Amino acid sequence: MKSITEKLTDIVGTAFESCDLSREMGFVRVADRPDLAQFQCNGAMAAAKAAKKNPREVAQAVVDYLKNDKTFSKLEIAGPGFINLNVTDEYLAAHMVEAAGDDHLGVTAVKPDTVVLDYGGPNIAKPMHVGHLRAAIIGDSLRRIMAFAGYKTLGDVHMGDWGTHMGMIVSEYIRRSNNANNTPTITALVPVTSNWGQSQSSFFTIQSSPNLMDDLSVMYPLVSAACKEDEERKAEALDATVKIQNKEPQYYNLWKKIRDESIIGMKANYELLDVHFNLWKGESDVHDLIPPMVDDLKMRGFAMEDDGAVIVPVKKNDDKKEFPPLILYKRDGAVMYGTTDLATIVERMRDYKPVKIIYVVDQRQHLHFEQVFRAARLSGIAPADIELTHAGFGTMNGADGKPFKTRAGGVMRLEDLIAMGLEKARARMEEAEIAKDFSATEKEDVAHKVAIAAIKFADLQNQRHADYVFDLDRLTSFEGKTGPYLLYQAVRIKSLLRKADYLIGKTANQLIIQDEDRPLALLLTQFPDAFDAALNNYAPHHLCDYAYKLAQEFSRFYSSCHILSEENEALKSSRLALCALTVRTMETALGLLGISVPERM
Ligand code: ARG
Repeated sequence: MKSITEKLTDIVGTAFESCDLSREMGFVRVADRPDLAQFQCNGAMAAAKAAKKNPREVAQAVVDYLKNDKTFSKLEIAGPGFINLNVTDEYLAAHMVEAAGDDHLGVTAVKPDTVVLDYGGPNIAKPMHVGHLRAAIIGDSLRRIMAFAGYKTLGDVHMGDWGTHMGMIVSEYIRRSNNANNTPTITALVPVTSNWGQSQSSFFTIQSSPNLMDDLSVMYPLVSAACKEDEERKAEALDATVKIQNKEPQYYNLWKKIRDESIIGMKANYELLDVHFNLWKGESDVHDLIPPMVDDLKMRGFAMEDDGAVIVPVKKNDDKKEFPPLILYKRDGAVMYGTTDLATIVERMRDYKPVKIIYVVDQRQHLHFEQVFRAARLSGIAPADIELTHAGFGTMNGADGKPFKTRAGGVMRLEDLIAMGLEKARARMEEAEIAKDFSATEKEDVAHKVAIAAIKFADLQNQRHADYVFDLDRLTSFEGKTGPYLLYQAVRIKSLLRKADYLIGKTANQLIIQDEDRPLALLLTQFPDAFDAALNNYAPHHLCDYAYKLAQEFSRFYSSCHILSEENEALKSSRLALCALTVRTMETALGLLGISVPERM
């Protein structure tokens, strides 16, 4: 079905056309000043300019045409030629009855084209950190939004599993297991035979995954530091990287084991966050695509040798700044981050034929994506009609304005952060006496939902590019613009409907709009507009703003009129229908943010 602004745009567009003006100028949107009107159309000014006429006269002609239409209760011209519009309560009610019967709440479906979203990027063997948290939260929300719009969505985790960090880890394991006295932290990995050096595919065995993950978290920073200081170790790590990439069994199998175990840990983290992927692929998956891709790019003149390296020049004539080439092979023959990203576009185009590929990655990687996109476009790896977007995001900071750290000053691990959120959520619930008499299981379920709502909403409510301060105290509060506040409001409406025995999914057959109901009713019709703003700009914060406004408007509605105590049965049932539509809309908006609402709390 069409949203109310789409329907009004049709009507006003026809009026413009009838006045010999361009139909597009009849675009109607929600009014900026709700105190003056419900909707507005600003097209008369541009239309007048094109027709070399006076804008107020143009607006007057459109308004005169619309006067015969039963849709409007007010048509006014303001300022230089703004057209202010109100719809009749009957029109509003009829639209809402239709929207209540629509499972997409008035959002118009797009063509079911495929879209790939890349919002993981955790690195094997390294702990996941809060940068990965933002990618996951924003990307998973965008996936839900695009799926709701009607796209076929594919979320790809795109793990960092092929770089030198893997060579460091593998060479360190081998080094330590060679020297039994030197293995205090290696409990997980032991040689199964003593004849180290023989080629044997199952040379090592990993005994238990928790130990492995703990080992890695201790080991990675040590090895990484050691490789910086010690040339010999660095060379060893690079050698191991090449051996893994050439699939030499001892190295490759060890790499694979570590990768498999790491994935278990990653999946658990994403599961806790209620973040989901369709594809569990990594940089390593495109390894075999790289040589033919580079050959092809060389043959067609897009890639060339440069001082022993292989590069794709991507600068354009109108670049204001120096624009570095994309490096495909370094002088030592190693492939780069950009190489795997380019080859991944080759793979995605071949396997999924997407119309869009969206990368939800830290804003600081913008230059990298610009280089990759340019190379893909120049060479035709991504045809011109395929959208490539880097939906970058800012940094999550601590109270000191610096990237969020643990109290000890280290990088905050994702699972620790979630645990902190959970602990705080429990304390908040205790304070507010929420879920007080629930069973332990239900209480824990509510606490988990509160924690996730708090963390996700705090992140998503910001403009994507902006940095923000992660303030656990504020974002877990049940008051103000927070996830927990919205959950609480949604649950209150659910319990009100339960008291009235009213089914949330019930379709409304008649609505009565009085002064008290009108603002809430109008706001409910605006869900598709908030949705479109979020979809078109990859900006979930529009849905956050909308959900918060809806909760506040509902509070006003609730305190200004009778619902359960309303004696007029028709009005009571109309108001219950508004409540049901409110909670459905709220739950849908929150669901698109990846936040789920408990039945009660
Ligand atoms: N692994 C990278 C990192 O931790 C992020 C990968 C983002 N995705 C991509 N296609 N490059 O910084």
